[in-house]
Amino acid sequence: MSETVKIIYGSKTYELPVVVGTEGEKAIDISALRKESGLIALDYGYANTGSCYSEITFMDGEKGVLRYRGIPVEQLAEHSTFIETAYLLINGRLPNRIQLNRFSVLLNDNSLVHEDMRVFYEKYPRASHPMGILSSMVNALRSFYPELQSAEEEINLTMTRLLSKVRTMAAISYKISRGHKMVYPRPDLTYCANFLNMMFDTPVKPYPLDDELVEALNVFWILHADHEQNCSTAAVRIVGSGRVNLYAAISAGIAALWGPLHGGANQAVVEMLTNIKNNGGDIKPFIARARDKNDPFRLMGFGHRVYKTFDPRAKIMKQMCHRILDKLNLSDPLMDIAMELEAVALKDEYFIDHNLYPNVDFYSGIVLRAMGIPTSMFTVMFAIGRLPGWIAQWKESMDDPYWKLCRPRQIYTGHTEMDYIPLDER
Ligand code: CMC
Repeated sequence: MSETVKIIYGSKTYELPVVVGTEGEKAIDISALRKESGLIALDYGYANTGSCYSEITFMDGEKGVLRYRGIPVEQLAEHSTFIETAYLLINGRLPNRIQLNRFSVLLNDNSLVHEDMRVFYEKYPRASHPMGILSSMVNALRSFYPELQSAEEEINLTMTRLLSKVRTMAAISYKISRGHKMVYPRPDLTYCANFLNMMFDTPVKPYPLDDELVEALNVFWILHADHEQNCSTAAVRIVGSGRVNLYAAISAGIAALWGPLHGGANQAVVEMLTNIKNNGGDIKPFIARARDKNDPFRLMGFGHRVYKTFDPRAKIMKQMCHRILDKLNLSDPLMDIAMELEAVALKDEYFIDHNLYPNVDFYSGIVLRAMGIPTSMFTVMFAIGRLPGWIAQWKESMDDPYWKLCRPRQIYTGHTEMDYIPLDER
């Protein structure tokens, strides 16, 4: 017999069903709560609220587990490519060779950006943040590619187009910010190699593609590809629930990701490490500030809403940092500070008591720096990586038999009814 939970309120008892996921996670289904009892649930930050059933990503924050469609992220990082992982997330299964080839051809065919879009780029003020540009340009894609999204084929094309074009658009925004000519995508290069080439190739200095960096970018994007109902994905689902087009929903996701508590943390980590370095390299005052309840400062790249142990992505990212720095024979003073900070924080009572461990963003900035990616583009790199997840989650929500317009309620705490006071009497 399925389990239930009893809520006793006033003189009545309400029995609510318990639902169970395939990994044994349980939830009280409160869909009928208000109708039956007049009560709603209040849950700041939705920390205890499940908003949907989902088959895409499984996380166990206590054990540090992350799986896409059942496959551990560690295995995907070791054996897969970003494109194959994107296919897996969106379509629910790994592609066979023919499907993968077809997907790659489609990505290549859709990699150009409408030339008229360049005018938009060129008119942005030079100091604009690339995340703001990317969010509005993705929204603008709808005007350039207004095809209907009703037929299955059209939806697939829209999703592939987005995956391919966003990468090109990100590279263009970097080129324009430098006052350089854009570099077109090349059909002979893979998705990741193409991105690096579009970023760094110039007419006067051809970019020598390095296999190690291409592989690192693959892993970086695989690690960011999905993370179940995080802030930006929830934004995509909520905005999408109004049945808005995919471009608008993804644009909202990009805007949500920009924040320093979410995807913007990778930029914030490097800025924090640089600040420590510029202040003589002593980490103690920063640890002290993070512990101080009266100081809003937080150790960026530490802590996570779900992970109460090591973020599995952070472990892979840290190994990758070492590998790339060794391979390229680079030394990065920020890496030394990061390692010292991690070692001290992991032994610190405050961080232990609060279950604060490094998250994916703690080491990712150092990997991006080694690739030559400028700090202002870090969150854009996260956004490109998260696209397959946003798309998969949007698609799942569109096909969800339990779909509903997302519309939370509130507990009103303002004035009770009062009369309008004419201007002269105020
Ligand atoms: N440094 C110092 N204290 C912290 C930190 C931190 N990085 N993170 C959380 N805390 C403390 C916080 O002050 C609070 O303490 P107390 O209970 O004594 O008042 C307690 O831990 C719980 O914090 P919270 O804000 O209620 O926890 P949350 O689950 O809402 O926060 C978080 C998650 C990621 C917003 C937070 O850990 C944080 O701000 N971290 C720094 C920003 C960061 O690295 N973000 C990237 C997250 S991973 C990428 C992604 O998926 O978005």
